[in-house]
Amino acid sequence: MNIKQNITNRFDKTTVESLYSQLENIKNNLHNGIGEGSEFTGWLHLPSEVGESKIQEIEQTAEKLKKTDAVVIVGIGGSYLGAKAVISALQKPFSQQDKPEIIFAGNHISDTYLYHLLNYLENKNFGIVVISKSGTTLEPALAFRLLRNLLNKQKGEKASEYIVAITDKEKGALKKLADKENFKTFVIPDNVGGRFSVLTPVGLLPISIAGFDIKKLISGAKNMEEKLSLKTNIKDDIAIEYALVRNLLYQNGKKIEIMANYTPELKYFAEWWKQLYGESEGKNHKGIFPASVNFTTDLHSLGQYIQDGERILFETVLNIKNTNTKLEVPFDNDNLDGLNYLAEKQVDFVNKQAMTGTIKAHESGNVPNIVIDIDSLNEQNIGELIYFFEKACAYSAYLLGVNPFNQPGVEDYKRNMYELLKK
Ligand code: PA5
Repeated sequence: MNIKQNITNRFDKTTVESLYSQLENIKNNLHNGIGEGSEFTGWLHLPSEVGESKIQEIEQTAEKLKKTDAVVIVGIGGSYLGAKAVISALQKPFSQQDKPEIIFAGNHISDTYLYHLLNYLENKNFGIVVISKSGTTLEPALAFRLLRNLLNKQKGEKASEYIVAITDKEKGALKKLADKENFKTFVIPDNVGGRFSVLTPVGLLPISIAGFDIKKLISGAKNMEEKLSLKTNIKDDIAIEYALVRNLLYQNGKKIEIMANYTPELKYFAEWWKQLYGESEGKNHKGIFPASVNFTTDLHSLGQYIQDGERILFETVLNIKNTNTKLEVPFDNDNLDGLNYLAEKQVDFVNKQAMTGTIKAHESGNVPNIVIDIDSLNEQNIGELIYFFEKACAYSAYLLGVNPFNQPGVEDYKRNMYELLKK
């Protein structure tokens, strides 16, 4: 992957150099385990430290669950978004490769969704992967109770064989339940927070069940870990560059960053990114608000605002350079739709021109664009991208002066909700 931007050139050298020097300190501190939240930096070396035996254990567990018709991944926030992002990015639309069907639950409290899910699973052979680091989060706990109830009815004593729990090594209600019921378990390391956990069993198990190569995913992430290591000069470090550019824009009134994609497979990658950056940076009344758009779809809805609304936006475009498919626009003798000017051109060529035209229009409308080039959508490249965004996120938050690894604000709604529910 590669990052393209001409934003640093628009600012005076002293400002840019001062940010580089702050980021150099931040990089050193992060690598030396100094700084707020440093007890949660286990993600930093996950790609190079995940052992072969852990991968094997995950793949073996996945093989067992693959024999079912459906696997429900139960989790919320960092306990599901990474898996959802990777699976959505790699899954071929309309393909049958996704046997078993992967279903996500426990990421909201919708009565309607859960009711219909239970009906849908009634006569299906299904398994459950329940993920909660704290083991006490209401949304997944509630969904898990309902699903386990159904599984118990279907399979009786054998139900536990169809359940995998991913949680803390000793704390929380889920761990207690897993021990009592003898579920297969994986541990979320203490030093890895939820939103940085996609390269632990939290993401790896569901991704493997969905049929994707987690070794390649890890290998991509490891590649990026090496590229962004302490040895790399900060001027060549693309995570530093992204953090720096975002900060420059933020200090100059750009309070909202929109992640833009031009292919629906990346919709959930943006959801993962939004959680990562929103929860890591939005503190002490500071932080860029992370938003997302799916183009060209949203050019026909949000495009107007982006072009002409409040000038507080910048965009980060994920550009997939090569599609895994090749589709040409056919020639039509009658040409009643007037599209023969595109005949024999690839659909992706048309998409790319739409992208180039949009970037140009937004730039001229004072919406700065950062473009992240990705060669193609595969496990290796997604692994690189994940590690890149995680590292740049830590740098960005530290540059803003906040602890990237806590989320004190999330507790407020929980307190009120539990009070109302008389917990
Ligand atoms: O990033 C985080 O820490 C959060 O988004 C959590 O992942 C989310 O709240 C779910 O928590 P848990 O895994 O403890 O159920």
